[in-house]
Amino acid sequence: MRMLVTGGAGFIGSNFVHQTVRERPDVHVTVLDALTYAGDERSLDPVDGKVTFAKGDIADPDIVDRLVKDADLVVHFAAESHNDNSLHDPWPFVRTNVIGTYQLLEAVRRYDVRYHHVSTDEVYGDLELDDPAKFTPDTPYNPSSPYSSTKASSDLLVRAWARSFGVRATISNCSNNYGPFQHVEKFIPRQITNVVDGVRPKLYGTGENVRDWIHVEDHNSAVWSIIDKGRLGETYLIGADGEKDNKTVIELILELMGQPSDAYDHVNDRPGHDLRYAIDATKLRSELGWAPRYTTFEDGLAATIDWYRANEAWWRPQKDATEAKYAVLGR
Ligand code: NAD
Ligand code: DAU
Repeated sequence: MRMLVTGGAGFIGSNFVHQTVRERPDVHVTVLDALTYAGDERSLDPVDGKVTFAKGDIADPDIVDRLVKDADLVVHFAAESHNDNSLHDPWPFVRTNVIGTYQLLEAVRRYDVRYHHVSTDEVYGDLELDDPAKFTPDTPYNPSSPYSSTKASSDLLVRAWARSFGVRATISNCSNNYGPFQHVEKFIPRQITNVVDGVRPKLYGTGENVRDWIHVEDHNSAVWSIIDKGRLGETYLIGADGEKDNKTVIELILELMGQPSDAYDHVNDRPGHDLRYAIDATKLRSELGWAPRYTTFEDGLAATIDWYRANEAWWRPQKDATEAKYAVLGR
């Protein structure tokens, strides 16, 4: 099978490519990635010589046409993915997440190529802290940020292309991922690398906000379950019952790294900061038989800390520019 992976030099996409090369010898992977600030070809070093890499933009119809024509399956990870950046400059989010998805959909329609669309739980907005409810595939869309609204827009394009044009598509909406190769702008790697640098971790606002953490390997095994067994036109929510508030996560990072658990600072909150995300993954578990491997967040987090300690050469070049952006925001 010939598989085109967009965004394969990013965090989740590169882990997906590693897992695919390891576990699916019958699949030939081509990565299409623009290598934005968030993409790093070195994230594909573990599969060097085993995949084809094409540097290019998903919003460019020519390269998209050329690569989709030769694929049996497209798995679409490429996106502008960071909420804080979307609040500062939404345009790259509209361009990549909406127009880029449109170009891919038109190409898979033209060549009748199977398409899997990787999306986020943020399309559903947020939940109250004391709400017993979780997101399900029937929860109405209610995105809060430019990032999540462009992801919601892209999901709606996929639904329309599936229904109106018969594009063979599935969608997954996953909760917050953690693991190796995540950019240091994101919450967990930012705090780990701050501690390595002797800088106090930064908690937005009160830190009561809850995220539903899942290890990136579990996200990607769920994506493969959907590719293998998912029903066309359907949406599957991916999550591993990993709800934790940010304060708890920061304290755990400090403890695991041998620091006092209160050695962090509260900083300016994110405007429009979503309070809580929580995924009900019953459909994925019962219909497709998927289950996560990382069931203890503490163990997955400790392994992730070890990875950042052992791979400073990978993250060090991103660190100063990332912190300079945060400094402007007082965060
Ligand atoms: P990331 O920012 O780490 O990686 C994005 C990749 O896309 C980078 O390699 C970047 O170079 C590439 N890219 C950006 N614009 C491009 C363009 N115009 N053309 C081609 N390539 C381009 O993101 P991530 O965290 O790995 O997220 C991957 C996908 O998973 C996204 O669609 C995101 O919405 C979704 N998602 C992420 C999470 C999470 O917790 N990180 C959770 C659920 C869903
Ligand atoms: O829910 C899935 C989403 O998870 C994905 O769609 C996004 O691509 C991904 O970036 C992530 O979005 P969040 O905004 O939840 O992730 P982030 O890592 O930016 O922040 C996680 C939480 O931590 C959030 O409540 C904000 C807070 N935070 C973040 C940073 C960077 C802090 O308290 N301090 C920080 O320094």
